[in-house]
Amino acid sequence: MQVSDHSPADAPAHTGMGQTVAKVILFGEHSVVYGYPAIALPLAGLRMIARVEPADGPATLTCLGWSGPLRQAPARLASVVRAVDAALEHVGRPDARLHVTTVADFPPERGLGSSAAAAGAVIRAVLDAFDTPADAEDLFELTQAAERVAHGHPSGLDATATASTAPIRFEAGRTEPIAIDVPAWLVVADSGVHGSTRETVGHIRERHEIDPQGTDPLLADLGRIARDAETALRDGDAAAIGELMDAAHARLAALGVSDTHLDALVATARDAGALGAKLTGGGRGGCVIALAESRPAAERIAQALEGAGARRSWVHAPQAREAAA
Ligand code: PMV
Repeated sequence: MQVSDHSPADAPAHTGMGQTVAKVILFGEHSVVYGYPAIALPLAGLRMIARVEPADGPATLTCLGWSGPLRQAPARLASVVRAVDAALEHVGRPDARLHVTTVADFPPERGLGSSAAAAGAVIRAVLDAFDTPADAEDLFELTQAAERVAHGHPSGLDATATASTAPIRFEAGRTEPIAIDVPAWLVVADSGVHGSTRETVGHIRERHEIDPQGTDPLLADLGRIARDAETALRDGDAAAIGELMDAAHARLAALGVSDTHLDALVATARDAGALGAKLTGGGRGGCVIALAESRPAAERIAQALEGAGARRSWVHAPQAREAAA
């Protein structure tokens, strides 16, 4: 008797959906990996949606510009494949036949958290397709399993922020919501250059091993800046936040994770009237963020950034104001 590799039970009974969002790190990228606090803002308008459908044959994946058999996905999608596998293991159906598709409003490899967002959305869609509930801790652990493939030793900040609906403070694995009511607007601009978080995290790790005395003070400074920013964000002190963004960018550049494009965009934002600007996320490519005192100022800065070569820009209203805008 011939035994089939798959039983009908291997396909989910219905379509499953999952959703996460992009995030920006306001303060604390890289230093967060060393246990210092970080502050991140989910960008509700930039969504990552995953859909899981029953399939007749082997699993397929359509994600971040690639489509084909899941088992033949390129290395850059290894973390998404891990996310599918981790979720299938969680639901006890490791060989399930399914089509996994993700659609994103934002580009990958730009420091906006696309790898964690894709993993988180796919995991939620698989769980939904198999009607398996999961609590926040399960979802975080499953996403971290995928993020370890993407980054090596992720802090967990991206996994948390891309699944959040409110700004968060993250420190040594602990997350708290943070109230932000600042009379200012945030411009996010994409340099168009692909960044590799694995590479920049690795660069700082090596630097730290070779030159701890030169590296530790920069990481500690970033930690102090994030703490000061927390107070300024709570107090709604936009000028102070801008200055802290400038200070953070200088430390990140000194750590070697900025590049000429990002430095030029940060300078352009400041010349166009930003209260402060910095790279966001892994760096060496990816995005910059700039703080503006009003929506018209934010639009001027966004225009200047696009004029200086940014591929795209988004203007984001801080939480409390967004509802009123
Ligand atoms: O580049 P992104 O969006 O993946 O952000 C990475 C954040 C880092 O602090 C550099 C790494 C981490 O694990 O927190």
